[in-house]
Amino acid sequence: MILQIYLYGQPALRKPTEEVTKDNAPDLRTLLDDMQETLTAAEGCGLAAPQVGRGLSLFIVDGTELGEDYPDCVDFKQVFINPEIIEQSKETISYSEGCLSLPGISENVVRPRTITVRYQDPDFNWHEDTYTDFKARIVLHEFDHLEGHVFTDRISPIRKQFVRNKLMNIVKGKTVARYRYKRN
Ligand code: NI
Repeated sequence: MILQIYLYGQPALRKPTEEVTKDNAPDLRTLLDDMQETLTAAEGCGLAAPQVGRGLSLFIVDGTELGEDYPDCVDFKQVFINPEIIEQSKETISYSEGCLSLPGISENVVRPRTITVRYQDPDFNWHEDTYTDFKARIVLHEFDHLEGHVFTDRISPIRKQFVRNKLMNIVKGKTVARYRYKRN
C-alpha cells in the first residue's frame, strides 16, 4: 500500500524515534513493504519511518533512481533498523540534497565522507558496514530523520534565510508534490 508522505511542518518529523522491537512493531514486514512501495512511487532514494508518521527507528534506502548519476548506488537497496553511526570520517563533502518531506527544496549539506553504521535487519540480526560518498550521504540524511532533524537544519544561516519562504509555503499547504502526501 502506498502511504502518505508527511511534509515539513508535521510534528511527526520532529519527534525522536523509539527503538524498534517485536512488541512495538508487530507489523514490521508490512510497514517495510509499504515504505518500499511508497519510496518507489515517489522516485526517492530513502525513506525514514517518521516520514510516514511512524515514530520508529528505521529507514530504507534504494539507489535505483540514482542509476545514471551514481552507478555505484544502483544496487544499494537496504533496510536499517535501530541504526547507530559508530564512526565517521573527519573528511567531509558538501553536496546538494533534497527530501521527499521538503518538496521543491535542494541545498548543499556538509557531511562526513565515510561512516560506519551498526544496524539490525528485519530479522533483528546485527550488522556493521562502512559506506562512502553518496551512500554515506543517503544513510546520514535518513538517520537525521530518526532524530527529528531535516537537512535544512544543517545548512548555513544565510541559506536558511533563503529557504525560509519555501519552508513556510510547505507548512501553509501551498506546495504540491507529485506523490501522496500529508500536510497541514
Ligand atoms: Ni529526507
